[in-house]
Amino acid sequence: MKGNPAQNKDNVPCKTDMYRENTCGELRLEDAGKKAKIAGWVQKSRKMGGMTFVDIRDRYGVTQVVFNSADNEELFNAANSLGREFVVQITGKVAERENKNPNIPTGDIELIADSLKVLNRSDVPPFTIEDNSDGGDDLRMKYRYLDLRRPAVRKNLELRHKMAFEIRRYLDSKGFLEIETPILVKSTPEGARDFVVPSRMNPGEFYALPQSPQLFKQLLMVSGFDRYFQIAKCFRDEDLRADRQPEFTQIDCEMSFVEQEDVIDMFEGLVKHIFKYVKGIDFTEPLPRLTWKEAMERYGSDKPDIRFGMEFTDLTDLAKGKGFAVTDDAELTVGINVPGCAGYSRKQIDELTEFVKRPQVGAKGLMWIKLESDGSIKSSIGKFFSEEELKKWSERMGAKPGDLMLVMSGDAMKTRKQLCELRLEMGNRLGLRDRNVFAPLWVIDFPLFEWDEETQRYYAMHHPFTSPNPEDIDKLRTDTGNVRATAYDIVVNGNELGGGSIRIHEPGLQNEMFELLGFTPEKAKEQFGFLMDAFRYGAPPHGGLALGFDRFVSILAGLDSIRDVIAFPKNNSGRDVMNESPSPLDPAQLEELNLEIKPIAQK
Ligand code: AMO
Repeated sequence: MKGNPAQNKDNVPCKTDMYRENTCGELRLEDAGKKAKIAGWVQKSRKMGGMTFVDIRDRYGVTQVVFNSADNEELFNAANSLGREFVVQITGKVAERENKNPNIPTGDIELIADSLKVLNRSDVPPFTIEDNSDGGDDLRMKYRYLDLRRPAVRKNLELRHKMAFEIRRYLDSKGFLEIETPILVKSTPEGARDFVVPSRMNPGEFYALPQSPQLFKQLLMVSGFDRYFQIAKCFRDEDLRADRQPEFTQIDCEMSFVEQEDVIDMFEGLVKHIFKYVKGIDFTEPLPRLTWKEAMERYGSDKPDIRFGMEFTDLTDLAKGKGFAVTDDAELTVGINVPGCAGYSRKQIDELTEFVKRPQVGAKGLMWIKLESDGSIKSSIGKFFSEEELKKWSERMGAKPGDLMLVMSGDAMKTRKQLCELRLEMGNRLGLRDRNVFAPLWVIDFPLFEWDEETQRYYAMHHPFTSPNPEDIDKLRTDTGNVRATAYDIVVNGNELGGGSIRIHEPGLQNEMFELLGFTPEKAKEQFGFLMDAFRYGAPPHGGLALGFDRFVSILAGLDSIRDVIAFPKNNSGRDVMNESPSPLDPAQLEELNLEIKPIAQK
């Protein structure tokens, strides 16, 4: 066996396996002339005259096997009766190939078979098990165990393993203890909806599945564990998107006797460690930081994609008072400068207008200004603003001849979010969001509270245990909406990778928070009594964060959806189409659980 098996997974030690002596990814030109014994699945076979070529696949690669009718007629006939995905064991002699395949590591050799044993037959698979499969999404999910045989999917799970391994290596080296916390927990109303589990032994009562191990990790700090982590399953009953699954995994961490700077430092180290040892990318400088306010003002997002510029420019003062209702009545007029796009046609601009008007973006319209290469101005708002005025706009936006400026007006927060969508769209159109470029940053100083128009109350933006910024504590009751939290997110390429905060550890301040969030003392005690009790027995100052593990893997793999990095994911309706869950319960089970199902209203 060549190389260090721990470093080279193509060369895993399988000499001791009873069925094989070599993997399908292992044999090279220097093995020519040697005997080999492989086992795996039939990927495909090709018959050419008196020769049959069969590709055998296992986790480690593909080896071409040759059956020659002139050498052994019986063996040749057996090879011709192999079907796709049959499981076989083959012995033979390694030989240099005449037609080499430079695209695969074993492409210089082939195995001249001298024995073939069918270990198991296979039905014809419902789709081709190749990177470019002919199977649609639903079909591949129904037969996910076959989909997982495809090298592209397998590679994602290999990456996931490697990352989990490196995460443990880093955190262990920093003194973190991996501690498991319960999966059957108490339902708490904040955050997303809970998944609930009925208790047979306690009829009429329910557990919830944890949305995160938040309360337990804080209790572990009270218990003195000092540095905790867990690669933890979390469950949230929320609407699904490409970066959300109902069950997902967090790299969950907590530390005692720390301030924000300590937590950021530790996990910036973790993120850099992963990029370095998994991706070979060395971030030598400290990661950039933006306050939440800066992020919103410059990018219209608390998870900005800073791989490219096109930062926002506030034009409100220039746009007001010219008799144009759209900008006159707007709280904010804000624009981006798109370099080199003054040549956009009417049709292209109409497409952008349609884009911002889509319900997902929700804007009423889009203004545009072109700074032509001769320095003149063309614009959709030329009726309301003189060329001189619009030149001032373009100067402020830093436009150069040949640039296109896109401008939106309205309610400040909504307009920023809408322009953010347009900025990302322009980034996509101009190819500025390269999957192989990674731009991590911290967003800090989040607001502590978020106002909800519908229920007319404040909600905790992060969670109710997040500590206010000490400088803002006196504003808790007088200027509640502007109190900053000691909370931070780590963002990569426009994705929220993780978030955390310094926690409140004084019972007095925690009670005040509950009160501001509209909890009566009784309700707070009912929901979080055990945490409040624990805090009476000497809670150390503590804080932490959780990184979305699935998101981290998918970002490193350059994928859009976290589904591709989860072995058995759910679809967009939260269903596992392979095992057909969720599914109705047997009446006897319902009886045992003391549950009755109401008739289900037709949708
Ligand atoms: P938060 O709710 O921000 O914080 O979650 C942390 C990270 O988990 C990931 N994430 C998800 N990934 C996939 N599917 C989902 N449905 C999903 N929801 C969240 C995101 C997110 O940044 N207890 C706090 C952390 C702390 O304060 O220490 C928490 O759960 O990447």
